[in-house]
Amino acid sequence: MSTDQPRPLVVSLQPGRHAICQCGQTGNAPFCDGTHKTVTADDGSTFSPTIEVVEGQPKNVAWCRCFTTGNTPWCDGSHTALWTGSGPDEGDA
Ligand code: FES
Repeated sequence: MSTDQPRPLVVSLQPGRHAICQCGQTGNAPFCDGTHKTVTADDGSTFSPTIEVVEGQPKNVAWCRCFTTGNTPWCDGSHTALWTGSGPDEGDA
């Protein structure tokens, strides 16, 4: 399988408060680095990060990198529809 297929970025968030990128332009994925302040959506709207609060144990999350998810910024599996001839590898969200 090609490694060029869009896949989510799976990370383990430690307990605490995290700003997760919604604009897709961060240089520190999946975390917001403030780049959204320079980004405008096609419809003219602006972006702000999703605040994710993790309590207790670390939490695994899958950050969408194909930008077709219906659950921004999280992967909902929509990237698999972009693939032809194969499905996701084990471990994909
Ligand atoms: S850098 Fe993308 S939401 Fe802040």
